[in-house]
Amino acid sequence: MIQFVNVAKTYPNAHSPSLNGINLSIGRGEFVFVVGPSGAGKSTLMKLLYREELPSTGKVLLDGKDISRLRDSDVPYLRRQLGVIFQDFKLLPERTVFENVAFALECTDVSRREILRRVPASLELVGLRHKTHSRASELSGGEQQRVAVARAIVRNPVLVVADEPTGNLDPENSWAIMKLLTDINKMGATVVVATHAKNIVNDMKKRVVAIERGRVARDEERGTYGYES
Ligand SMILES: Nc1ncnc2c1ncn2[C@@H]1O[C@H](COP(=O)(O)OP(=O)(O)OP(=O)(O)O)[C@@H](O)[C@H]1O
Ligand SMILES: [Mg+2]
Repeated sequence: MIQFVNVAKTYPNAHSPSLNGINLSIGRGEFVFVVGPSGAGKSTLMKLLYREELPSTGKVLLDGKDISRLRDSDVPYLRRQLGVIFQDFKLLPERTVFENVAFALECTDVSRREILRRVPASLELVGLRHKTHSRASELSGGEQQRVAVARAIVRNPVLVVADEPTGNLDPENSWAIMKLLTDINKMGATVVVATHAKNIVNDMKKRVVAIERGRVARDEERGTYGYES
């Protein structure tokens, strides 16, 4: 479903590439951890997936289509197929939980009726139905990230990209979020998670792709974290 073909990425003004010679293939329905030292290029890899950045050379293919060659007008269509989760949640703090999740559907052609069906279903899945009308700013960090997960999955994405989703959470909430990502994966979505959560990676025994200095250093089925945390 995802292919990186000879991808390199050098940011403007940088003197060395952040990614170089990346060849990577991820199949539909896979669950992949992306690990590696700080500054290795993990977030850059994730940004290429949701087209926040474009590769300098090479191709990033999603279902065979080169996403870097999409017209700007087609980018919203791509994004609608994706769920993206960030370390800092990126919720609208003054809006309610319901509004934050519904927001992901509002720029799509989903009907009001469908929104009223899907948002509660999504909140149910992350265990936050009872917070539907709370303001996002009034939730704990773990709850906020669960809202972000609900927002990511409410569109039934084929691909969920999470960049350090547990970076701001304690171990218990980190596990809850990783469990939710596993559930989403079991429901059919491909899930790619960049993380420093050593213990979770070691326990979950999923595919692990390690990035070091902009290159794939390791790619293991049922892999381990492989670094000191
Ligand atoms: N917008 C940017 N402009 C210039 N250089 C950048 C930019 N974003 C990232 N870099 C550089 O690219 C390299 C890879 O950064 P990236 O954020 O992908 O690392 P990372 O593996 O996600 O690290 P961390 O674990 O700390 O999040 C770093 O050297 C970083 O300084
Ligand atoms: Mg990063």
